[in-house]
Amino acid sequence: MKKVFVKSYGCQMNVYDAERMTDMLATEGYSETKAMEEADLVILNTCHIREKAAEKVYSELGRVRELKQEREASGQETRIVVAGCVAQAEGKEILRRQPAVDVVVGPQNYHHLPDLLRKSRSERLVDTEFPIEDKFDHLPAPSRAKTISRGVSAFLTIQEGCDKFCTFCVVPYTRGAEVSRPVAKILEEAHRLAEAGVRELTLIGQNVNAYHGEGPDGAVWSLGRLLTRLAEVPGIARLRYTTSHPRDMDDELIAAHGDLPALMPYLHLPVQSGSDRILDLMNRKHTGDEYRRLIERIRKAQPNLALSSDFIVGFPGETDRDFEDTMRLVADVGFASSFSFKYSPRPGTPAAEMGEQVPEAVKAERLARLQNLLETQRQAFNHGTVGQTLDVLLEKPGRHPGQIAGKSPYLQPVQFESDVHRIGEVVTVRIVRAGSNSLFGEWVKPGDRAAA
Ligand code: SAH
Ligand code: SF4
Ligand code: F3S
Repeated sequence: MKKVFVKSYGCQMNVYDAERMTDMLATEGYSETKAMEEADLVILNTCHIREKAAEKVYSELGRVRELKQEREASGQETRIVVAGCVAQAEGKEILRRQPAVDVVVGPQNYHHLPDLLRKSRSERLVDTEFPIEDKFDHLPAPSRAKTISRGVSAFLTIQEGCDKFCTFCVVPYTRGAEVSRPVAKILEEAHRLAEAGVRELTLIGQNVNAYHGEGPDGAVWSLGRLLTRLAEVPGIARLRYTTSHPRDMDDELIAAHGDLPALMPYLHLPVQSGSDRILDLMNRKHTGDEYRRLIERIRKAQPNLALSSDFIVGFPGETDRDFEDTMRLVADVGFASSFSFKYSPRPGTPAAEMGEQVPEAVKAERLARLQNLLETQRQAFNHGTVGQTLDVLLEKPGRHPGQIAGKSPYLQPVQFESDVHRIGEVVTVRIVRAGSNSLFGEWVKPGDRAAA
């Protein structure tokens, strides 16, 4: 049997796509390997979001090329595919920069892979035209065993692409226009995952809360309505969704946070900046105060809500004062976890052409200050859970014998001693200690709950 190795960079969408590509190649006789050296087919599933991410691909391709040559010396063939957002953005340029690459395929064309692999025997190929047909209709489902091997928590793409055009961002160009999958297709996939033992679904999309899919009743369904329906799927204990835009948090979705116990009280809602002037230049179409008020409304529906966000420092024209506005917003809102980045100019985006690019040293200093504050908040949040009882979804054996590990509603890793529980169960745990990345707890037996 031939072997395929896929390496993914970037966001969860790439993780999901990597699974769908391996599922498709399984029907072509490829089994998945975690060791690149033994792969007959190497796929780099790339990310174009920041310059560093994109450049990493070329250095990795250099290594894959060496491997290809070594394997060739011992009579084995290695084929190389570049997929993902760098493939979409750079296309032919990749073939030019790295002669060892056989195929370049954009994110909307993965269903063409078997065909591309065959045709590329005679000619190196680039496939980045946005197709008319929906790739999901042509991507086969994994076997039950494969689904089980991937664990109790699964991603499910419900929406792809973005129409927002934030001025710093390549995603609308690399992933194309917003498309929502029909409700029936999503439900079918959710049932299939649940029947194989999946307990937690994370609905993913570049702009997931802009979801507007065709419902079985012919009406357009919002994300709130879809979540309400998915909460009824037998076996599904937890629902999450990512990534959202503050502009698309509608009343139905906010209400779902109060009404659906399965919808976890943890929301990734990127704000990017706390300065109204910068938010405007970013084309985010909301102000800092609008974000604050939105959070208040969601917290009213779900008082246990915790938040995470993305931030960019050093956007063109960002002054010290703008940056202080960001620091103030972070202090006001409070985040359980966050991702923060130095602004990276991306070819073809409006912000890359703006004057007043911020010097690297200033970006670095601001990033360090912001990350310091965010880390303090993260630690405070983790320590704040000590003494609480939290539901934990069990995912795997713990680090030491007799321990079992899972995730809290806030995606914190939790470990505790147990020899009676099984992976996939949701167990009540009293948190007794917070480490720097994990929480440690003890099982609360159902009868003991009142005393907890
Ligand atoms: N769709 C999501 C995020 C997509 S990219 C959203 O709307 O929030 C993930 C994160 O990368 C963004 O939230 C942003 O913080 C960061 N990012 C995007 N483009 C960037 C750039 N040019 N430089 C630095 N960070 C960037
Ligand atoms: Fe990029 Fe903005 Fe779209 Fe998010 S909403 S993917 S940051 S353009
Ligand atoms: Fe990167 Fe593309 Fe995701 S640019 S963040 S892999 S949508």
